[in-house]
Amino acid sequence: MALWDGRFAQSPADDMIAFSCSLDTDLQMWREDIEGSRAHATELARAGILTPQEANVLRDGLDRVAAELSSGAYVPEDSLEDIHMAVEARLIALVGDVGKKLHTARSRNDQVATDVRLWMRARLQALHAALVELVGVLLDRVDRDGETLIPGFTHLQRGQPILLGHHLLAHAWPIQRDAQRVYDALKRLDACPLGAGAMAGTPHPIDRARTAEALGFSAPVPNAMDAVAARDHVIEAVSACAIAMTHLSRQAEELVLWSSAEFGLVRLSEDYATGSSIMPQKRNPDAPELVRGKAGRVIGALTTLLIMVKGLPLAYNRDLQEDRQALFDAVQTTVRSVHITAGVWRTLTIERARYAEALQGDFLLATELADYLVTQGVPFRDAHHVVGCIVAWCEEQGGDLSLLDAQRLTSFHPALGADALAWLDPRGAAARRRSLGGTAPEAIEAQVQQLRAWCRGAAVV
Ligand code: ARG
Repeated sequence: MALWDGRFAQSPADDMIAFSCSLDTDLQMWREDIEGSRAHATELARAGILTPQEANVLRDGLDRVAAELSSGAYVPEDSLEDIHMAVEARLIALVGDVGKKLHTARSRNDQVATDVRLWMRARLQALHAALVELVGVLLDRVDRDGETLIPGFTHLQRGQPILLGHHLLAHAWPIQRDAQRVYDALKRLDACPLGAGAMAGTPHPIDRARTAEALGFSAPVPNAMDAVAARDHVIEAVSACAIAMTHLSRQAEELVLWSSAEFGLVRLSEDYATGSSIMPQKRNPDAPELVRGKAGRVIGALTTLLIMVKGLPLAYNRDLQEDRQALFDAVQTTVRSVHITAGVWRTLTIERARYAEALQGDFLLATELADYLVTQGVPFRDAHHVVGCIVAWCEEQGGDLSLLDAQRLTSFHPALGADALAWLDPRGAAARRRSLGGTAPEAIEAQVQQLRAWCRGAAVV
């Protein structure tokens, strides 16, 4: 019979027991459940509800339950429904009637809310550390290969020549913001629900602030109903995960493109690539493809949570049991994806010479001619039109900007002197973009310094 057997004449139907049971998922947070119960036993003794001896018996018993769960000696039955009842039932079996006192001044509703916050705290700290590490890996890559010249794209069409370091930094900054989002989520979940009871508080003289402190929270959740009903901290954390996964997925997409023969900029290490069972030549970018694929799962988890919560009346509703599958999977998938992405960047090879020649004369230098004209006093809009005519002419000839000589240039506009030809150099074009955040080497270096300083400060939360 269940722990509520007083009111019921029979057990639930077998299919209901299976449907109701969340042990599979809950077993990932048994440590947190034991930790919360130990703190609760201590507080019950401090409040004079238990004798110090009784509290000792409960804590020792909880340690034994923990040892049994850890070794696999205790495998709770489905009929126990969740980790809270599994731990309590085993405790009573081990220590006898005193075990029945543990559930004073709490309910499973505040227990589950507490366990989940404890679980989240540790995992989000790990996620934060992984994201900081990924920023560092991207910066190392900038240091190593940042001067490599590549085309910068808009609409996946060649736009302007840039340095690879510039592009990698554009991936690093979003990851920094992801880490900051996780840090913010950690701050918001830093409140303890334990002792809220079912939703109304308790008549017993416990001090929730002391329990909060014992469990490492800054304060108790101020409202007992909110303490058991709120899941916005879960949604916020999974939302941070989903956003981070979209960033990892964009990196993954580029790694897939760049490692193709068509781009040929990147060669993935054998650590993170796989072959084909039929095509002997293949070196497939499976790691980034999997990251891109898993982004969908995490976005799905966020949707699950938002829909789960949106129609729920206060306070606890059983629907909320579904939160952990989405949360655990989203956080674990994101942590693993961050680690894999860091591994891919750390071990790949950049084909540095890939675009060195290929960008010479390319239309992606067209903006240079317009910018040159601006330095000669021509309004940018007029300069843009003139260069548009030059591009059209080159295309008609079936060539590119390398068709231009000094005489031809001047024929398009008198201000286009012979020295304009010197502007048609991709590396020079990148070097001229010294504005803050630009692709010039010194602008890249400034950002690297800025992000390195942030990484040092952010390493531990
Ligand atoms: N298994 C439940 C959950 O995980 C625990 C809370 C149950 N509370 C209740 N009143 N049925 O959400």
